[in-house]
Amino acid sequence: MSLPAFFEGPLLALETSCDETSAAVLRGRSILSNIVASQIEMHRKWGGVVPEAASRAHVEAILPAIEEALSAAGVGLSDIEAVAVTNRPGLVGALSVGVTAAKALTFVKGVPLLGVHHLEGHLCSPLSVADLPFPHVCLIVSGGHTELVEVSELGSYRVLGQTIDDAAGEAFDKGARLLGLGYPGGRAVQEAALSGRSDRYPLPKGLKGDTIDFSFSGLKTAVLRLVESEGERLSVADAAASLQETIVAVLTERALRAVERIGARALTLAGGVAANLALRERLATECSRRGIGFWTPPVELCTDNAAMIGLAGSYRLARGERDGFDLDATPNAPL
Ligand code: KG4
Ligand code: ZN
Repeated sequence: MSLPAFFEGPLLALETSCDETSAAVLRGRSILSNIVASQIEMHRKWGGVVPEAASRAHVEAILPAIEEALSAAGVGLSDIEAVAVTNRPGLVGALSVGVTAAKALTFVKGVPLLGVHHLEGHLCSPLSVADLPFPHVCLIVSGGHTELVEVSELGSYRVLGQTIDDAAGEAFDKGARLLGLGYPGGRAVQEAALSGRSDRYPLPKGLKGDTIDFSFSGLKTAVLRLVESEGERLSVADAAASLQETIVAVLTERALRAVERIGARALTLAGGVAANLALRERLATECSRRGIGFWTPPVELCTDNAAMIGLAGSYRLARGERDGFDLDATPNAPL
């Protein structure tokens, strides 16, 4: 299988499914601009994303993000030939802001509209760095998802394994909160881990045996016990390093097992947790040792962004897919 065609004309992509308001302009697979207005500072004071506040912040940020994306790409609104927007899954009020903006723009301009699945966006993000071979396995790790997906070709997906409870990003976020490292947790754990010993506190890896599923809820409980039992003696750096090492080891083991199970020769890594440098390095090393191709996008395309939505929307638009003005924001949707 080779790569399909991509939509040639300037394409505007929008992403508002959670706490980033993002707009991007693409031409084919080229990302001309990718503007991300993060709400992290606002949600930090509550220690997590507050859906109602997220929706309101998207309303304020969406038009400036679109204007900035157009201007950074050097194109005018009149040049845009299609709009792709995340319409599922996510916070319904947040998604609605992007979907409404996309409908208004496509109605006024008379150009095609297409709703994109957020996870397909993550899955397509490694296309920014390579002509991916097929079949390959994509490890999608974010705040809400941990999935190993067999990608036979773009648009043809089979979930091989997934978490039965918390997502990998949640394990980072909840662990960080227990360690007093604040929100969002992944980046904070990564930084604290730099000066820590990863073998200091052994933590549970969840499911045992020859599985490619995940369970991270026991890890959170184990970190809570560790914090309680160590009290003042706790080394936060060592705990962060141990937590990160446990998550990285589990993700690496299961991803390699999935690749082997379907006889693929390539692995991609996507989603917010793919920004984790220890995970990127471990997977790169282990894949290269086994002769497995490995690709992951630059860090700014791992966390939520509109460019990845543009990549997924682009090949679908090129093959003629379109949505009508009845396009809905859908909170839950399988890949
Ligand atoms: O994909 P994403 O931006 O949003 C969702 O779709 O969920 O992922 C957000 C998640 C959060 O849990 C955050 O803590 C995690 O990605 N994350 C990281 C890092 N940067 C972001 N986790 C580990 N290490 C990082 N450097
Ligand atoms: Zn995401």
